[in-house]
Amino acid sequence: MAKPRAPGSRRPAAVHLALIVGGLLAFSAASAAEDWRWNLPRGFPVPWVPVDNPMTKAKVELGRRLFFDQRLSVTGAYACASCHDPARAFTDGRAQALGATGEIHPRGTMPLVNVAYNASFGWANPEIRDLETHAKIPLFRQEPVELGLLGRESEVMEEFENDAETRAAFERAFPKTKKRFSVLHVRQALAAYQRTLISTNSAYDRYVFYDEKEAMSASAIRGMEIFFSDRAGCAGCHPAPLFMSPAVYAGIEAEPRFHNTGLYNLDGKGRYPEGGTGVFEHTHHPGDMGRFRVPTLRNVARTAPYMHDGSIPTLDEVVLHYASSGRNHGPTGERAARNPFQSPELKAFELRTGERDDLVAFLESLSDEDPPYAVDADGSD
Ligand code: HEC
Ligand code: HEC
Repeated sequence: MAKPRAPGSRRPAAVHLALIVGGLLAFSAASAAEDWRWNLPRGFPVPWVPVDNPMTKAKVELGRRLFFDQRLSVTGAYACASCHDPARAFTDGRAQALGATGEIHPRGTMPLVNVAYNASFGWANPEIRDLETHAKIPLFRQEPVELGLLGRESEVMEEFENDAETRAAFERAFPKTKKRFSVLHVRQALAAYQRTLISTNSAYDRYVFYDEKEAMSASAIRGMEIFFSDRAGCAGCHPAPLFMSPAVYAGIEAEPRFHNTGLYNLDGKGRYPEGGTGVFEHTHHPGDMGRFRVPTLRNVARTAPYMHDGSIPTLDEVVLHYASSGRNHGPTGERAARNPFQSPELKAFELRTGERDDLVAFLESLSDEDPPYAVDADGSD
């Protein structure tokens, strides 16, 4: 990877701010590392890591194995990676996910790049605040089944213990513990691995962080200006350099936030379809109807179809949805009135000839050029 260079001068204000804040955080968090140092471009924020699950190379390596391990599934033929495919930026190309036993999930698989920075996990769950806790959902969820580990925990832990390679990986990852083969350790290793899935190697990064002026096309650069403009207002919710919000960094906390982008208005009172009602499903507050977390736009060109229910097939149509201040589908897909709970930040904006393509070209410039995304420790053992 190219060496990070001093920040250039032609970048949007939002990026400047992120660079400054990120730089300070990178400095203050370096001391927390054990055998792990984040190998991030200069100015990139350092992820928060819970004190009881420090990063180590061995734990990340175990997590990587478990992420692809089909023994965690009830059919023995499914893994985290069956839905979170690294080649698709950890999504599956489906509008709604398909579980190990063939059940359809009400919502789409989320990309896992940059999950290290999430303030909450899932499309609209304000209660899950760390990756260790989140892992219980894919492992144990019953309706629908994702992997289906429930009731088979001790059997599977025994299988891990009896398999020489997996046993060695657990021993390296958790050297000092008595109860080494446990679901807690599975969850901790998966979390450590997922924290390394940080996107830093897109054309956008090369242009902004490494000053490679040819990295982005003229169209993508025009699109970047639109993206960060007050007219389009995208960066308010999808700020650089992570393109999601709110973000938790080492030393900086953030409360979960959710927004209604006006995808539906089924009854004139703002209703979203069953299974996709957003935070409302958890709180039953009418104002939480249709509110979802802001997903990252990094690698978004690889994660179609879009939105929590995959109901927008292309980036071009996502741009149209926003430019018309929310597509607001009524019961038969026709345009209904503006959703009363729609985020006030979303206003219709004009796109001149060519600007739609420019905005899409910018979104495409956020794709990593060297998957599989994971950052490594910097080699100091
Ligand atoms: C059946 C397909 C499927 C499998 C298998 C699966 N996931 Fe997911 N994953 C999803 C879906 C769907 C969501 C969004 C859930 C929601 O919020 O409704 C999701 C969300 C997530 C999120 C939240 C991301 C974010 O930005 O909030 C994480 C983290 C995650 N999965 C990790 C895992 C891990 C680790 C495994 C394996 C133990 C796994 N998943 C297995 C489908 C799957
Ligand atoms: C008020 C906050 C807000 C603003 C402003 C905003 N977004 Fe979003 N964005 C969201 C939320 C929330 C979602 C998820 C909505 C859902 O699934 O129901 C989302 C989803 C997306 C997605 C789909 C990502 C995926 O993985 O499915 C794209 C692409 C996107 N936004 C691009 C943009 C662009 C381009 C702009 C500016 C024109 C913009 N956003 C402005 C909040 C916002």
